[in-house]
Amino acid sequence: MSVGRRPLVAGNWKMHKTAVEARDFCVALAGLVDSGAPVDVAVCPPFTALQASSDALAGTEVAVYAQNVHEADAGAHTGEVSAAMLIDAGADGALVGHSERRAAGDTDAQVAARVRAGIDAGLLVVMCCGESIDTRRAGETEEWVTRQVREGLAQATAADIDRLVIAYEPIWAIGTGETATPDQAQEACAIVRAVASEVVDGQRLRVLYGGSVNPGNAAELMACPDVDGALVGGASLDPESFAAIVAAAA
Ligand code: PGA
Repeated sequence: MSVGRRPLVAGNWKMHKTAVEARDFCVALAGLVDSGAPVDVAVCPPFTALQASSDALAGTEVAVYAQNVHEADAGAHTGEVSAAMLIDAGADGALVGHSERRAAGDTDAQVAARVRAGIDAGLLVVMCCGESIDTRRAGETEEWVTRQVREGLAQATAADIDRLVIAYEPIWAIGTGETATPDQAQEACAIVRAVASEVVDGQRLRVLYGGSVNPGNAAELMACPDVDGALVGGASLDPESFAAIVAAAA
C-alpha cells in the first residue's frame, strides 16, 4: 500500500446470497465497518441482489459492484446485463474479466470492450487478471499478466484512472486456501502497475490482490508496496470476516 493511494477492499460473493440474505449481510456489515476509516469498501452481489444491497447500504460509504457487465447498450444478448441496467439497479461499479468469467468464455477483446463500456457509463471497473498454475510453473507469469493487462486496457485512456482498478488474482489461489506469498503478490502487482502505466498514471492506479485472502493474511498482503487492497471471495460471505479484512486495510 502506498500513502497516496486509498485502499479498496471488495467482496466478490460469486453465486451466493438471495436478495433477503444480501440485505441482512449489508445491514450487518454497515454496523461493523468504521465509516471514517481511510479505505473504500464494496460488495459484489449477484445481479438479482444488486438492488436489495444498494437499498440496504443507502447512506453508508459501502459501494455495490456487479460481477460482470456486457459491452452493448442493449440488444439480442440473452442472459446479459448492460451497464445502464446495473446503474439502474443501484450498482456503482463492476468486476470485468474475473477468471471464472474468462473460463466461461469471456475473451480478452470482450474484457477490453467491457472495461470501456463500464467506465463510459460511469461505473468503477475492477479489471481482473491472473495466471493458472501451469503458466506459473512454466515461468510465464510475467508474460501472461502483461498480455492480459495490455489487452484488457486496449480501449482505455489516461482519463480513465479514477474509474479503473486492476485486481491480480492468480487462479491457483482462488478458492483453494493456497494464498500467494506477499513476495509473489508484490511481484505480480508491480508487473500489473508497470504494464498499466503504458496507459494510465501507474502511481495513482489501485492494484488489488485476490486469491484466498482472509482475516489472518490480509494485513501482510496489503502491506506490500504495490498491493492497494484486496478482492475477497469466500471470506467476504460472512460480515465479521469481511469487516476484519476491511479493518486490516485501514
Ligand atoms: P477467494 O476468491 O477469496 O475465495 O479465493 C477470490 C476471487 O475469486 O475474487
